[in-house]
Amino acid sequence: MNLFADILGKLSLDALPQEMVTLGAGIGMTLGALSLVALVTYLKRWTWLWKEWITSLDPKKIGVMYIIVAVVMMLRGFADVIMMRLQQALSVGDSNGLFTADTFQQVFSAHGTIMIFFVAMGLMFGIINLIVPLQIGARDVAFPFLNSVSFWLFFAGMIIINLPMVLGEFSAAGWLAYPPLSGIQYSPGVGVDYWIWSLQLSGIGSLLSGINFIVTILKMRTPGMK
Ligand code: HEM
Repeated sequence: MNLFADILGKLSLDALPQEMVTLGAGIGMTLGALSLVALVTYLKRWTWLWKEWITSLDPKKIGVMYIIVAVVMMLRGFADVIMMRLQQALSVGDSNGLFTADTFQQVFSAHGTIMIFFVAMGLMFGIINLIVPLQIGARDVAFPFLNSVSFWLFFAGMIIINLPMVLGEFSAAGWLAYPPLSGIQYSPGVGVDYWIWSLQLSGIGSLLSGINFIVTILKMRTPGMK
């Protein structure tokens, strides 16, 4: 029993979503992910997915993958604003609306973080991958493998930022996570840890992408292009 407790550490049943709204979101997301896995298995498309997309170094395909992730995250960001506006509309008179003040803070922090780092940045890197090599007459970017690594770091960050929906909690410190609000004293839960890991990983990805595209634009322009 003690060994079990040691392995799980702070992870208890309390880490599962507690309120109806977050429970619904968690169940919805888990079912969505499972149906996607089932669909790919049913259509026998795993090898195709692995060879043609997951391991592809083609900037057009990487661009398309960025845009797909950004569009899915936009749906998440929109779901968050619908909850925020609903909460504001329903919290009239004596009513506290749908959820607690802390959950509201988590929802707008999720909205801001996801919209900026996983929608706006995802769309930007997607479009850059699709267009910049064509614009400058280059067959590829300067470092194709690094380009793929950048995308998958972005993807890993996206998974981590969505995990609090089923385990733990989202940071309630806004999209900028300013201390002292984001510090251990005012945010003692696991939310800020998820936020830091997610943004560090996807941040390394966007930094590497930035370097990749600066080198591509400076070094790989078609001869004669000023
Ligand atoms: C239908 C579209 C949208 C609606 C109705 C909406 C609504 C809101 C609301 C109500 C808040 C304030 C929450 C609060 O402080 O109580 C907010 C915050 C924010 N929104 Fe949106 N939003 C929308 C789209 C977007 C998009 C497309 C982006 C960025 C690409 C974005 C980025 C942000 C950011 C960065 C914050 C600040 C979050 C924070 O304070 O931590 N929003 N939005």
